[in-house]
Amino acid sequence: MNILILSCGTRNKIVQYFRRTLAGGRGNVIATDCSAIAPALYEADRHYIVPRMTDAGYLDVIYDICKKEQITGVLSLIDPELSLLAEHEEAFRQLGVTVIGSAYALCEMTLDKFQMYHWLKEHGYLCARSYMDKAEFFRDAEAGEITYPVFVKPARGSASIAISKVSDRETVDLLFAHDEGLMIQEFLDGQEIGADVYIDMISGEIVSIFTKKKIKMRAGETDKAVSFKDEKLFALIQRFVKEAGFRGQIDIDIFEIGGEYYISEVNPRFGGGYPHAYECGADHMKLICNNLEGKANAPVIGEYRSDVYMMKYNEIMIRTEDEI
Ligand SMILES: Nc1ncnc2c1ncn2[C@@H]1O[C@H](COP(=O)(O)OP(=O)(O)O)[C@@H](O)[C@H]1O
Ligand SMILES: [Mg+2]
Repeated sequence: MNILILSCGTRNKIVQYFRRTLAGGRGNVIATDCSAIAPALYEADRHYIVPRMTDAGYLDVIYDICKKEQITGVLSLIDPELSLLAEHEEAFRQLGVTVIGSAYALCEMTLDKFQMYHWLKEHGYLCARSYMDKAEFFRDAEAGEITYPVFVKPARGSASIAISKVSDRETVDLLFAHDEGLMIQEFLDGQEIGADVYIDMISGEIVSIFTKKKIKMRAGETDKAVSFKDEKLFALIQRFVKEAGFRGQIDIDIFEIGGEYYISEVNPRFGGGYPHAYECGADHMKLICNNLEGKANAPVIGEYRSDVYMMKYNEIMIRTEDEI
């Protein structure tokens, strides 16, 4: 069994964990990136420098790698590529390759925070009240239905880029005058939580949930966190994931306010904080490999170590010019 990890970037741990799972001759891990100085490339059994995913002919390059390396399963670590893989799932299937990810419509929905908000509201989940229409927001603010501070962010943003906590109308006006596609969101004043979830690709059942409380964020990523378990949260995640129909690996941002859980956003891929889950025993690489071998997984929900702290720190990769 051979796994292809696209746009591996700096996600060295993900490559390492897959290699550990496939060690002893079970298979190879192949990684790609459009940059030769993406450090995770050098963790893989073999790697390829490929065009940008937006370039014409990108997929043909990926299909060729699939054939040459006899790939069994493919996944991407960046948001914009998730829809691309989902859209071409059938072409991959014809090459004997399983796309490890959710369906196209779900990938698209999670890219758009406003679309996600509508879905959550319509399906009765607690979530932050959101607006794309500035006038509508100002009307509600005047009527006292929403109060400052609020969060202003790009509806299709990521990595906390261009996110502001705003305390007055003038700043909302100013931000909207300078940017397109902004969204105003109620401030969720509570404990931030991250969930790493695996939905079995054969049975369709949710088989693993890992949850952590975020202690410190840095540059849009969880820098420090502690694992915990709560049956009420597990039940909410199960209901949500089932109803939305996600598949494979997903990452969910949640806020806890006064004992209630608010769903904030979903990334249908391995999140940047996944190593915390793995190190606590939520081994999703094993679950993926079982699925790729045609075996459904039995549920192991909540089977991980609680009260374990994750503290991120930097590492470096060194290669000479002729090695890259
Ligand atoms: N409505 C909100 N209430 C409180 N904090 C927020 C809100 N929106 C965003 N944040 C903060 O900004 C971070 C990034 O926002 P998020 O909506 O997850 O976008 P991204 O796609 O950039 O991760 C969150 O993890 C949280 O710390
Ligand atoms: Mg987020």
